[in-house]
Amino acid sequence: MGIAVRCWLFFNRDLGPDVPEAAEVVRFQEAARALDIELLVLKPSEFDLVVDSKHGWSAIYQGRELYKPDLIIPRCGSETSYFTLAVLRHFERQGVAIANSPAAVESVADKLHTLQVLAGAKLPIPKTILGKFPADVDLVERELGFPVVVKKLRGTRGAGVVLCNSRGDFDDLAALLDGATAASDFLFQQYIKASHGRDVRVLVIDGRVVAAMERQSNDGGFKSNISLGGSGKPFVPTPEMAELAVQVARELKLDIAGIDILFDKDGYRICEANSAPGFQGLEKACAIDVPELVFLAMGRKFGLPVRHSERWEKAIDKAARAMFGAIKTPTVEGLVEDMALVPAPARKRRKPLA
Ligand SMILES: Nc1ncnc2c1ncn2[C@@H]1O[C@H](COP(=O)(O)OP(=O)(O)O)[C@@H](O)[C@H]1O
Ligand SMILES: [Mg+2]
Repeated sequence: MGIAVRCWLFFNRDLGPDVPEAAEVVRFQEAARALDIELLVLKPSEFDLVVDSKHGWSAIYQGRELYKPDLIIPRCGSETSYFTLAVLRHFERQGVAIANSPAAVESVADKLHTLQVLAGAKLPIPKTILGKFPADVDLVERELGFPVVVKKLRGTRGAGVVLCNSRGDFDDLAALLDGATAASDFLFQQYIKASHGRDVRVLVIDGRVVAAMERQSNDGGFKSNISLGGSGKPFVPTPEMAELAVQVARELKLDIAGIDILFDKDGYRICEANSAPGFQGLEKACAIDVPELVFLAMGRKFGLPVRHSERWEKAIDKAARAMFGAIKTPTVEGLVEDMALVPAPARKRRKPLA
């Protein structure tokens, strides 16, 4: 029996226990097996790109030709290099469905670009300055006040985000950075005090909120990242928050988005959007199967023959209706119950090509 759906997942590193993002890739492999999808995990850096005007398929990986896939899922996150984007664009041009698209991956890898797009759409963000060290502390104080949040432009997992409580802290940080680091680009950002150590991660897939969790730091720190020891519990977003998350994903053209939302005194503020969100904490908190939801939703979006159950369709429609206020807000428990899928019967699989 032939393969119904061929998928590639792009990941730059080896799948070792010391690579934090590898666990998510392994989860994708498990879900692909259950749904009878052929999934090749490939390193974009090992493609040879031959660009010409001839029509026809071309993919050379580690010196071998690969079949055309139906879908590519890039999971290089903030490590997405120019080369990776070039590889993605090569296959996009050749008509392969890519979720998320290279343009969307590129715009959210840069935290400032994300905020620029969202500000352009009049969505609420913390006021942010692009700067280098040494910085104009007077400007920072005047525009943002202290405490102030300092972020690396392309950080992830909470590394590269610090809180400077005072001008003194800010000066200390500047003194600590060596020449090359100080000259790199930073964001100085308004500190959203009401959200200290607490935020909401909303997972939006194909324009629908499929899960959300509240994250809380456990050490009194202001960062709530699960990877820094924060804990997560299921959270039912208000319609306003759900709508905001969907708008963010839409503005950033993300098919798969992990959106971090901060609580402010009088509403919400978008912290950031991730195109390859970590989801170990979310799966644990909300008892969902994220890769399965991704495969099913992308199958539906791109017209791929991924098998899906009626229960899943029902759950997704219910979530969508709830978001637009037609019926009551669903409980996460209800959503999860509806989304639980019957495991696929084992079928014979073809040998992968690479
Ligand atoms: N402006 C801010 N005000 C208050 N807390 C913030 C602010 N920006 C970030 N945080 C906290 O720090 C965490 C990490 O910041 P984030 O920008 O999401 O970086 P990363 O990409 O490393 O996760 C957030 O989840 C949030 O808890
Ligand atoms: Mg984050």
